[in-house]
Amino acid sequence: MTDDKLEDLLAQLTLEEKIDMIHGSELFSTKGVERLGIPPFKTSDGPRGVRKDFKPDRWEDIGLSYDFVSYLPCNTALAATWNRGLAHETGKLLGKEARGRGKDMILAPGINIMRTPLCGRSFEYMGEDPYLTSELAAPFVRGIEENDVAACVKHYALNNQETRRMDVDVKVSERALREIYLPAFKAAVQKGGTKGIMGAYNRYHGTHCCHNKELIDDILRGEWGFDGIVVSDWGGVHDTKEALMSGIDMEMSVTDNFDGYYLAKPLLEMAQSGEPDMEIVQEQVDKKVRHILHVMNELHMLDGERKAGSYNDYRDKEALRQTARESVVLLKNEKNLLPLDRSRVKKLLIIGENANRQHAPGGGSAEIKALYEITPLLGFHMLLGGNTQIVYKPGYYNNDLGNIWADTSQSAENGQAKSLEGQLKKEQTQDAEYRAAMNAKYRREALAAATDADAVICVGGLTHDYDTEGRDRESMKLPYEQDTLISELLDIRPDAVIVLQLGSPVDMSRWLDKADSLVCAWYGGMEGGYALAETIFGDNNPSGHLPETFPLSEEDCPAAALGEFPGEDSVTYGEDIFVGYRYYDTYQVGTAFPFGYGLSYTDFVMTGLRGDVVYGADGDFYVNVSFCVSNTGSRAGYAVPQLYVEDKRPKIKKAAKELKGFEKLYVEAGETKTVTMTLDKSAFCYYSEERHDFVCDAGSYMLLLAKDAEDVTDLAEIEITA
Ligand code: BGC
Repeated sequence: MTDDKLEDLLAQLTLEEKIDMIHGSELFSTKGVERLGIPPFKTSDGPRGVRKDFKPDRWEDIGLSYDFVSYLPCNTALAATWNRGLAHETGKLLGKEARGRGKDMILAPGINIMRTPLCGRSFEYMGEDPYLTSELAAPFVRGIEENDVAACVKHYALNNQETRRMDVDVKVSERALREIYLPAFKAAVQKGGTKGIMGAYNRYHGTHCCHNKELIDDILRGEWGFDGIVVSDWGGVHDTKEALMSGIDMEMSVTDNFDGYYLAKPLLEMAQSGEPDMEIVQEQVDKKVRHILHVMNELHMLDGERKAGSYNDYRDKEALRQTARESVVLLKNEKNLLPLDRSRVKKLLIIGENANRQHAPGGGSAEIKALYEITPLLGFHMLLGGNTQIVYKPGYYNNDLGNIWADTSQSAENGQAKSLEGQLKKEQTQDAEYRAAMNAKYRREALAAATDADAVICVGGLTHDYDTEGRDRESMKLPYEQDTLISELLDIRPDAVIVLQLGSPVDMSRWLDKADSLVCAWYGGMEGGYALAETIFGDNNPSGHLPETFPLSEEDCPAAALGEFPGEDSVTYGEDIFVGYRYYDTYQVGTAFPFGYGLSYTDFVMTGLRGDVVYGADGDFYVNVSFCVSNTGSRAGYAVPQLYVEDKRPKIKKAAKELKGFEKLYVEAGETKTVTMTLDKSAFCYYSEERHDFVCDAGSYMLLLAKDAEDVTDLAEIEITA
């Protein structure tokens, strides 16, 4: 439909009909206008797959079997692949399934920056670095939208914690906002072409992000040219006039009082009251409806030529498994105990409740009604077959407090949250003695079985009682007395392989030195358990790299050391731009594992770095970079060379180095490959608060070729005269 036709359509709508299009009339849908052929606009969570369906007006499952779907690796796992192609494939699959389920917008991906490891929703995000997140978010969004479904990147902006997420006022410098917290959203808009963006719950400069003119009107629409739909987070709108006058298009919420939404009856009443003037109301409402019609048109919702999508297609499982494989990060392999040789493992002991746990149903709005989920225990059985005896011992007691997230988060305003949290605390204390006894019993049984197995694998980590929406973690400590279990296990079986499934870093200090083999397996989606088994037994050569630093302890984290977390009415990001490795690197604070870290079963040598500055006629420049990656080990594998930039003589305080390029490439044993990449001017810019713009200073810059943020393998100095 042409723009003129869309305008015609708009002109035929009454104010009431327009208002119906800009607020939820079901929990996940707005109303259409049947007489003009405008359908309702249907949304669904979320980042790990298409969420189950709820009753239109209640948070109650439909309870039918048609909404089982593919369960994707969590966004942190995806980020750990450092693979743009897989981000695209994963997005494609998500979009196809969303469309297959009849949705118009999928509320994904989550792209907030991991400011603190304690953030409960870290697993829904892509780590701590704006460049890595941007590079993966853009193809992810494109993949979704190839299916005539809108992506909805979230949560714009500064939603970096769950504590007081509904109202905390984030105080952050303009520079940190521009350099750290906004780039991924900008990339999703300008490079990914996202048609949707979700306003965050929290406040910025005192105003809720969902009707924050600075964020939505000035930056998102004004500077970045976004002409898609801005959706509120569910219950994120708090004021009719502010919402009317700002660039938000669609108010969604959590209650069934749909007429009472700020952009429903209260808006109509405001229009009728004459304040503001009817003309202004009409003009503002038209802008919102125009955005919605524009997106509907692009999704072919108005012309009947739309892709149908599909879901649970068995042919997609290979891509999901490959993503899970490439997400596994080998953190330690000191005695080269890995991969295990299956011909020598006749009796395998698997310890750890996570080995037997399905994670798909947890986490909050990212919960998934998975068609299936291969747990690690199932994966090892599937891979090894009937000639290996597998003994399983839970090792620790997880009494699964259940999925209470929704009650404690979205209803935070009506006081219910507090009472539920209180109840939870009570249950935890009442249980403490029982849980300690159970932990001791499970531990004893696991350790007793450890002596006569050919190999021992312990699969622990976190669960969605910890990695969850609506709550931050209280500490980085492993729950369920796992530190004791792992430590005592390593005393009797120093060769035990320790596997952690999690979505955010944990403190491993009690046993890290004792562990020879350590693997991080995230929440790897429906194929995750199999991919893990393949990795441990060598069918997959691990190639995942951390998208976030694993600090030694939470006190070391920049938000704790220089800033504030979680704050109270407000939270001050005192660490400024020094988020993640930018802090550890610059302030020389040791880490357990640095950003970008990940081992392989082969060895890579990365050298021959060159950088050539090329000036264009307009005075702008770019830098042609090349280097070589050699596989000097005995098996093929994926390498992830990383390119960081250091300003040799910065005029203002800068991070020691920043990631500006990376590649993921497959290299055969003995093979050398040449890699080329181009850095544009933006790789050398910082945000000047004086000029309110990105600037690039002339001078010497160092290009650093690295295996991770702490392991630089080659350097090249360049001079920029622009
Ligand atoms: C979450 C969003 C989610 C929405 C709808 C909110 O509580 O913050 O990420 O998309 O609920 O379920």
